Parts: sequence; structure tokens; C-alpha cells
Amino acid sequence: MNQTTRRRALIAGNWKMNGGIAANAVLLEGIRSGANGLAAELAVCVPAPYLAQVQAALSGSPVAWGGQDLSLHASGAYTGEVSGAMLRDFDCQFVIVGHSERRSLHGETDAIVADKARQALACGLTPIVCVGETLEEREAGHTDSVVSRQLMAVVSALGQQLAKIVIAYEPVWAIGTGKTATPEMAQQVHAQMRALLVGVDPVAGRGVRLLYGGSMKPDNARDLLAMDDIDGGLIGGASLKADDFLAIAKAA
Ligand code: PGA
Repeated sequence: MNQTTRRRALIAGNWKMNGGIAANAVLLEGIRSGANGLAAELAVCVPAPYLAQVQAALSGSPVAWGGQDLSLHASGAYTGEVSGAMLRDFDCQFVIVGHSERRSLHGETDAIVADKARQALACGLTPIVCVGETLEEREAGHTDSVVSRQLMAVVSALGQQLAKIVIAYEPVWAIGTGKTATPEMAQQVHAQMRALLVGVDPVAGRGVRLLYGGSMKPDNARDLLAMDDIDGGLIGGASLKADDFLAIAKAA
């Protein structure tokens, strides 16, 4: 498996807009207590109001944490937004950028996603940049072109900083639907992304971690994570149960 020899697997939870103080406490304790000694790197990306709770619960553990979005701007009159510096104030290491829910529900274009990735890096955060096609795009045979377009928008904006990002391939039709891409389908897209990245920068392109996301669960994680270019997972629903999240991490 490539990720164990060259790229350390990353299993990142995306809580989305879920949680509450009491439920988080149970979840975080469960994750923390099972996180020692795992080969994979673990992280949870949580709603911004809970960052202080997550920081307190996970400090000193091997589990990192992050936000789910950041503002394009450093500060100012942007009601409701959270800046990268604010995420760093709570010791976030990661931030999800360009999740399909942000693209479809909040109008984030490839250009905005690229700017946000750049802003994350400028703030000292590792962006987990999401790409992926809709069902309509897949059925029309456009998966390769959509994913390449989304990926290259970010890569060209980042210049020499390619090595500092994480990419998550999340086919939109697989998110929260229980429909997972087969390991072969996912690997095919990952291999295509890898080839593009290696074409831009051979060393960085080989080192960048490519996560798969979309209904990854304990029972399908092992086969997905065994693929050469799948270096981890971005986990939605299954990251809300410590046992499931840890089971996926153990499969990596
Ligand atoms: P899911 O979500 O695991 O619930 O499909 C993944 C994601 O949207 O990041």
C-alpha cells in the first residue's frame, strides 16, 4: 500500500452542522480514548462554535482538528464569516475548502475555492480541498473533465505550495446517500488526479494526500483505502460515532 510506505493516511471527520456540547463531549472522549497508536493521522473538522470545546478535549492527543470553511477575507465587515486567523486562534491545523455543499448551497465557484485554499495556507492552515462530480456529470461522461477543472483551478492558484495541501475526491452522488464509489471507480479518479499533480510538480504531486469521501464506512473503508492512490478518507456521517470513526482509522 502506497500510503503506508510513502504517504501517511489521513482520516478526517467532517461533522457538518451536527453536534451539541453534550454529544460532542461523548464523541470526543470516545475518539481520544481510541486514538493512540494508530498508523493513520486523525482529525475532526467541526462547527466553529465548538472549536474551544474541541481544543480543550483533544489538546495533547494525537487527534488534530479544523474548521469546515473559512472566509476569503482577513477581517472586517463580513457578518457571519470566520477567518483563517480565528481558526488558528483555536489551534486548528486543517480547514475543509470547497466542499460540494459549499459549492452547491453557497455558490462557491472554482475561483473562490482556489482563493480560499490560498487564504488557508496564508493563515498557516492545511486546506482539505474537495472536488467531485455530480450524478448528472458522471452519467454524461464528464467526471474526468469536471474533476480536472476543479483540481487545476486550485493547483494553478497555489504555485509552489502544492505540497502543503490535501485533496479530497468526493463524488457528490455518494455523499450521505449510502452509495459509495467502488474502490476501482474511486482509484480511477485518484490515479487521474495523481497524474495531473505529478505533471505539475513530480515530487509534490507524488506526496500530496488524496482522500476519498462519500459514504465511507467501517465496512467499505478497508477496500477503498487499499487502493494505491487513496491516502485516507473524509468522513461525514460515520465520523459522528466514535466507534465507526475509529474503525475506519484502523482500516487505514
Ligand atoms: P458522508 O459525507 O461520509 O456522510 O457521505 C462525506 C462528506 O460530505 O464529507
